[in-house]
Amino acid sequence: MNAESRTPKVACVGSYILDVLGRPIDALPHGQTTVMIDEIRITAAGTAGGTSVDLARLGADVIAIGAVGDDEVGDFLVALLERNGVATGYLRRKEGVPTSATILPIHPSGDRPAWHVRGANSIFEQADVPWEAVATCDFVHLGGVSALPRFDGQPSLEVLRYAKRRGITTTADCLGVKRDDTLEILRPCLPYVDIFMPNMNEALRITGRAAVADAARMFLDLGARCVIVKMGADGCFIADESERERIPAFDVTPVDSTGCGDAFCAGVILGTWLGWDISRCAELGSAAAALTLGGLGSDAGIRNLADTVEFMKKGRCRRTDGQEIVLKGPA
Ligand SMILES: Nc1ncnc2c1ncn2[C@@H]1O[C@H](COP(=O)(O)OP(=O)(O)OP(=O)(O)O)[C@@H](O)[C@H]1O
Ligand SMILES: [Mg+2]
Repeated sequence: MNAESRTPKVACVGSYILDVLGRPIDALPHGQTTVMIDEIRITAAGTAGGTSVDLARLGADVIAIGAVGDDEVGDFLVALLERNGVATGYLRRKEGVPTSATILPIHPSGDRPAWHVRGANSIFEQADVPWEAVATCDFVHLGGVSALPRFDGQPSLEVLRYAKRRGITTTADCLGVKRDDTLEILRPCLPYVDIFMPNMNEALRITGRAAVADAARMFLDLGARCVIVKMGADGCFIADESERERIPAFDVTPVDSTGCGDAFCAGVILGTWLGWDISRCAELGSAAAALTLGGLGSDAGIRNLADTVEFMKKGRCRRTDGQEIVLKGPA
């Protein structure tokens, strides 16, 4: 898998969203009042879109696979992806449908309430997948499990199975838990997922378990090769057949947590490509996430792989249980 002379090629399949963010916002102005704020940004986001931008920044060759509308929001989203080096030729433009978009007023604490238009992501379907292009990839990342009504279940299984049969490494992430039968739609897919990376709320809600370790165990029992549960400021929990481990988060002051999970996945994918062991991959994911936390929007902070690895080596970790945790760092 590790070919140092080559860049990894990754298909990011799933949710593509245009985010409009402003900060700091702690209340809605009344009537026609205008309130001055520090910053407004527009970014390419979504569980596939955010990860695609982060991966491109980290040096991967990325193709976007998903759906956008034929509106100006879609034009803008495509332009932003292109500007970041993501290939957009396989994104389907859906006629007469709005592009999925979110407005995020970011609170001074970093909290991020949101208004969302579901749009084209809700009609992304199996017929939109460019199979020959997928076959040329080293990784397939499925971003948006449970938030893709026409792609969850059988179509997701088809793409994951297609990838695994070709020796492609597969990763998957959720976008909230939008349906009660998420465990059922995941069940057939998990044997074809190499690294499953839900966040803690998603893992517990999907499995109905009370503890992260039990949720991770259930995903492993259902066939996932490795599970990494993202736990916000508490870091992440890794479980595979040989080990279970908690990796702490970096000690950073959050500006905006939008896209942390997407950045985490990008770091894990890049680390896997580099042939690092899974805990180092998670450290790279945590470093990418911590960099993203320092600015507004899901694309904030990450510049390139060298800077991210540098941050990973030098960053201070949160202390948990009063113990200092020393990261192993890259091999
Ligand atoms: N407050 C924080 N301080 C330090 N690191 C953080 C913080 N919040 C998130 N992270 C880092 O980001 C990673 C992923 O974040 P999180 O667990 O929130 O994922 P997520 O819920 O999938 O994110 P998203 O909201 O982007 O979907 C964490 O494992 C951690 O490394
Ligand atoms: Mg997430």
